[in-house]
Amino acid sequence: MILVTGGAGFIGSNFIAEWLGHEKSAVINLDNLTYAGNQDNLKPVANDARYVFAQGDINDRALIDLLLRQHKPHAIVHFAAESHVDRSIHGPDEFVQSNIVGTFNLLEATRAYLQEQSAAERASFRFLHVSTDEVYGSLPAGAPAATESTPYDPQSPYSASKAAADHLVRAYANTYRLPAIVTNCSNNYGPRQFPEKLIPLTIVNACAGKHLPVYGDGLNVRDWLYVTDHCTALRLVLSKGRVGDTYNIGGNAEKTNIEVVRTICSILDELKPASEPHERLIEFVPDRPGHDRRYALDCTKLTAETGWRPAENFASGLRKTVQWYLDHPDWIARVVSGDYKKWITTNYEARDKQ
Ligand code: NAD
Ligand code: TYD
Repeated sequence: MILVTGGAGFIGSNFIAEWLGHEKSAVINLDNLTYAGNQDNLKPVANDARYVFAQGDINDRALIDLLLRQHKPHAIVHFAAESHVDRSIHGPDEFVQSNIVGTFNLLEATRAYLQEQSAAERASFRFLHVSTDEVYGSLPAGAPAATESTPYDPQSPYSASKAAADHLVRAYANTYRLPAIVTNCSNNYGPRQFPEKLIPLTIVNACAGKHLPVYGDGLNVRDWLYVTDHCTALRLVLSKGRVGDTYNIGGNAEKTNIEVVRTICSILDELKPASEPHERLIEFVPDRPGHDRRYALDCTKLTAETGWRPAENFASGLRKTVQWYLDHPDWIARVVSGDYKKWITTNYEARDKQ
């Protein structure tokens, strides 16, 4: 059994499906189903007898203690977090609670649980903390990509909360010999990503004939990784990664935002043609406060130690992603109702006043 936190979200749900497709051990998914958590995401595994769902918060220490003692997992894969930079600007509180305090709580529960296990069980246990490239901060154009030893320099409430959690995990590995590994991944995209992030927002808006908001001059750069490639890397890190160590996971696919949006438009022109090219919907809007200019990751260490390489390139992964959203109008209809509309108003209609 492995315990996955945040498995009803975008990456966690893809990870669970990938895990159950390749590994023998069962999965218990602990998720409190925030706006980003969605039981529909787990439909592909719902009938697998090895999948168990527990609704709850990573800040509920009694619940975590119970789950650990009941299910005796040999690994924890920790995804649960608030994950959207724009939301962290509008309301940082939940980011501190879930990403920092929640991770601390999970570490404490794991430390207590491991004290009850045999030396052999402790040695084979893994706490895999899933983090982001944003902890390295904004890189100047042309600067080398961040390696695992690049100093942390987080610039948003989101990345600061993830950096704090990474530090706690490393401190537990060093101080208590908790068998933890940290991974720092670049921007993921693929099926089941909530349409608040750039790629699914652009696809969903373009299909609905709505504007495609591009922040600032559109020249901020992100490195993009197809979600299944992230999941494969995490499985390899679990089996081959060194305890106490950190691994960067990236797609070697740096793109400006405007390039990403234009590419989506041209894929849609082909797969779902409208009367005019989708690019006509692009709208430059006031920038995100404190917007990091560029992220880029050097993944030499991961490839050298585990042999991992992404299976998708940006063109193939993006086409698959667009096709998935075109094939799942019901999934989109359910997530864009209710609170989603309020978020769109908060984030986009108030931009001029920032
Ligand atoms: P997501 O927002 O889609 O999903 C997060 C999930 O965590 C949701 O199901 C939510 O209900 C759950 N959750 C949040 N707070 C919780 C709490 N207190 N207790 C229990 N469950 C809680 O996020 P995602 O994009 O799938 O990201 C997963 C992880 O990967 C995060 O830790 C994120 O920082 C990290 N990450 C994401 C990206 C990316 O591009 N999306 C890149 C690198 C790293
Ligand atoms: P996002 O998907 O929010 O991920 P992150 O901020 O974690 O990198 O944004 C990706 C890039 O796209 C980022 O530079 C901000 C930009 N962006 C837009 O230009 N318009 C949008 O509507 C959104 C959501 C993001």
